[in-house]
Amino acid sequence: MNILLLGSGGREHALAWKLAQSPLTDQLFAAPGNPGIAAIAKCVPLGVKDHDAVIRFCAENVVGLVVIGPEAPLVDGLSDSLRLAGLAVFGPSQAAAQLEGSKGFTKDLCARAGIPTAGYVRTASLEEARAALTRFAPPYVLKADGLAAGKGVVIAETLAEAEAALADMFGGSFGEAGAEVVIEEFMVGEEASFFALTDGTAIIPFGSAQDHKRVGDGDVGPNTGGMGAYSPAPVLTADLQARVIAEIIAPTVATMRADGIPYQGVLYAGLMLTAAGPKLIEYNARFGDPECQVLMMRLESDLVAIMLACALGNLTGIEAKFSDQTALTVVMAAKGYPGTPEKGGAIDLDDAEADGAKVFHAGTGLNKDGALVATGGRVLNVTAMGPDVTTAQARAYAAVDRIGFASGFCRRDIGWREVAREAAAAQE
Ligand code: AMP
Ligand code: GLY
Repeated sequence: MNILLLGSGGREHALAWKLAQSPLTDQLFAAPGNPGIAAIAKCVPLGVKDHDAVIRFCAENVVGLVVIGPEAPLVDGLSDSLRLAGLAVFGPSQAAAQLEGSKGFTKDLCARAGIPTAGYVRTASLEEARAALTRFAPPYVLKADGLAAGKGVVIAETLAEAEAALADMFGGSFGEAGAEVVIEEFMVGEEASFFALTDGTAIIPFGSAQDHKRVGDGDVGPNTGGMGAYSPAPVLTADLQARVIAEIIAPTVATMRADGIPYQGVLYAGLMLTAAGPKLIEYNARFGDPECQVLMMRLESDLVAIMLACALGNLTGIEAKFSDQTALTVVMAAKGYPGTPEKGGAIDLDDAEADGAKVFHAGTGLNKDGALVATGGRVLNVTAMGPDVTTAQARAYAAVDRIGFASGFCRRDIGWREVAREAAAAQE
């Protein structure tokens, strides 16, 4: 079968890598892809905003499955257009992608379905929001309702800071995404991510991970798209995962179906593990980046068969098998990220993949001489496996140290929580 994968990040390189390994795959196309993806797929310059062009491409190239990587085309309704044209698509409809596209939508759904999450108020004006603040205690959690590239959340320590942030949000600092603001109760706990695939009815667990959102070692500095991740996340024990499915994922899938907007694709639950149990922070309607990279390293099942079953409503009875090993990925970013990253920096990957390490490309490109250079904020995802986080971490950083990327940087402590727990357990 021919497959079209949409996207150009490290997440899509990891997906392409697994899709290309499937015996079911004839030709893998990627749009737009990146130089890493180009080594295993045919990259084509298709704009995802032009739904008709994507449909024409699929017809001309007999594409049997379209896999949508990022959230923007989902929220823009690309999967609906493709399905109307009779194509099999991995990814939720526009209506179902509201689980990521509107924080208010998700909070209302949680309230109706009794899903554990932070208490909240939806507000549509600065006056309303300022009045609602009095019902919360600091720190104040303020969220622009719509998509804001992971930057729409402000945690304000004082009332004055919260009021200033609200004025900013309603003043247009997040554009349309900030036309509505959700104010939430602050939750305390450790964060972890859980993934599930669903065809709208059946649910299969698809692994756990922990991300590192802040730019600096020790979790300091501004938020980023994610500076590194590992999977599995042992803090999400089998018991906790069962609770997450029963208390959060299953009622979400059932409520969406009952509302006539069944969710199909991957549900990425951002969780807070509180003293009272796991609570939902937010949903994403796609794989995490870089969480996807570590999930794909561990996945032993055929990704094409699973995604196709998801797309066609045949997920019942399908199992996703993962290696028991830990996978850990370190993001190498261009200096300046998450502000303005330096572009054009040279990259030398010659010995990088020795010892079984895997380097997924994100913001890379070829310069006019055909040499590999940095083109974006997050540039490379240097990934390794091991029997525990400590070993996977050591192997990933050994690979990082074999890479030439003078204008890049990375955190040196990815996995620190689990490395500390493993060291403590070894002392006992
Ligand atoms: P989100 O984009 O909704 O995942 O939020 C970004 C980050 O803000 C999360 O990863 C948490 O660290 C933090 N956060 C969001 N909501 C809450 C909350 N209700 N309580 C505590 N921290 C939160
Ligand atoms: N790494 C966080 C995300 O993909 O949203």
